[in-house]
Amino acid sequence: MRLSHPGLADPEFYVPGLPADYVTARYGVSPADIAKLGSAENPLGASPLAVEAIRERLDRVHLYPSWTAEPLREKVSLVYGFEPERVMCGAGETELISWLIRAFCEPGGRIQMPGPCFPIYHLFAEAEGRGPVLVHEATDRATMSVDVDAYIDAIDDDTRIVFVTNPHSPSGTWMTEHDVRRIVEAAPEALVVLDEAYVHYSGTDGYIHLADDYPNLAVLRTFSKAFGLAGLRVGFGVGPRTVVDACLAVKPTWNMGVLQTAGAAAALDDKDHVDAAVDVIAEGRARARARFAGLDRFRMVPGSRSNFFLVEILDPSTDSTEVFEGLLERGVIVKDGSVSFRGLHKRFLRCDVNRPELMDRLVDALADLP
Ligand SMILES: Cc1ncc(COP(=O)(O)O)c(C=O)c1O
Repeated sequence: MRLSHPGLADPEFYVPGLPADYVTARYGVSPADIAKLGSAENPLGASPLAVEAIRERLDRVHLYPSWTAEPLREKVSLVYGFEPERVMCGAGETELISWLIRAFCEPGGRIQMPGPCFPIYHLFAEAEGRGPVLVHEATDRATMSVDVDAYIDAIDDDTRIVFVTNPHSPSGTWMTEHDVRRIVEAAPEALVVLDEAYVHYSGTDGYIHLADDYPNLAVLRTFSKAFGLAGLRVGFGVGPRTVVDACLAVKPTWNMGVLQTAGAAAALDDKDHVDAAVDVIAEGRARARARFAGLDRFRMVPGSRSNFFLVEILDPSTDSTEVFEGLLERGVIVKDGSVSFRGLHKRFLRCDVNRPELMDRLVDALADLP
C-alpha cells in the first residue's frame, strides 16, 4: 500500500469551533449558561420553511435523489438568474471547494489565498498534493483586511486558483466590487473563486452577478449561515459551464440527499428568516462595538461586515490560548486564532456576533480575566 503523496502521511485536520457539551463536560458549565461564539452559526436557528420542506420529504428517503440536485439547481437558477447548467450544488461550500481544487489545479500546482484565511482552502490543497500559497504580506496588520495591490502582485503565471473571501474570514472585512474585478482581471489564466459565505451580513447583495462578466470566475454561497442550515450541509456555486461540468465530473455522483435539496430550495424562499438573522447580527455587532470600547486590554478589530470579528489582545502579559482557555472556564466559546487560522499567531481571537446579551457575556468574561 502506498499513499498517493507524502502529505497524507501526517495530515493536518480542520479545527472546528468547540461544541457546548465539551465545555459542560470539562468545566461543569450548564448548557444554558454557555455562550457559543466560535462557529458563526445562526442565532435564530434553522429556516422554518426549510424544516417544513424536510419533514414533508421524510417518506422519500428510500429513493435515489437527483444526482445534480436538480430541484435546487432550478431554484437557484430562478432566484439568481443563471441557467441551471451553470449551477452546482454540494455538501456545503466545503465540498465545492474540494472539487474546484481537484479540477482546476494539477498536483503540485499553485493555489493562492490570503494569509490568514478559511483553513479549508489550504487543508484541501495539501490533502490533494497541491501547493497552497498563503499571501501573508497582503494582510494589513491594523485592519487584518486584504491589501488588494499586494494580493495582485503575488499572482504569477503558474497560479491556477486564486481564492477571494468576501466578507473575508477571519477579519470580516469587505472588498469593493472594483477590487474584486481587479483581482479577476489580473488572473486571466487562473480560476478565481469568490467565496461569499457571509454575504447576507454585509448589507449588500454581493457580487454573484460578476459570474456573468468573466470566464474565469466561480462564486460560492452557503446555506450554513444566514439560512441557519449548517447541519444540513448545503452550498452552491455558479460559474461558466466548463467549470460546472468539470466539477460534476469529479464529485461523488449522489452527493446531495433528498432532504438537503428540498430544505435548501425552500430556504431560498425564506426571506423573513434571513432578514431577521441579519437584524440580530446588526444589533449584536453594535452592542459588541459599544462594549469593547470600554475594554483596555482587548481591541475589537474594526471593519467587520460579517457575523464575527477579530479581537486583538493588547495586554503583552497574556496570549490568545490563555485568553481562550479563560473564556472557556467562564462558559464562553470563541476561536483561538493561533489554533484556528494559519499565520494569525498568538495575538488574536475570532468571536461570533450573536444576540446582544451574548455580546455582554463575552465582554464581561474578558473583563473578568485575571
Ligand atoms: C469563509 C468560509 N467559507 C466557506 C465556509 C464553509 O461553509 P459550508 O461548508 O458550511 O457551506 C465557511 C465555514 O465556516 C467559511 O468560514
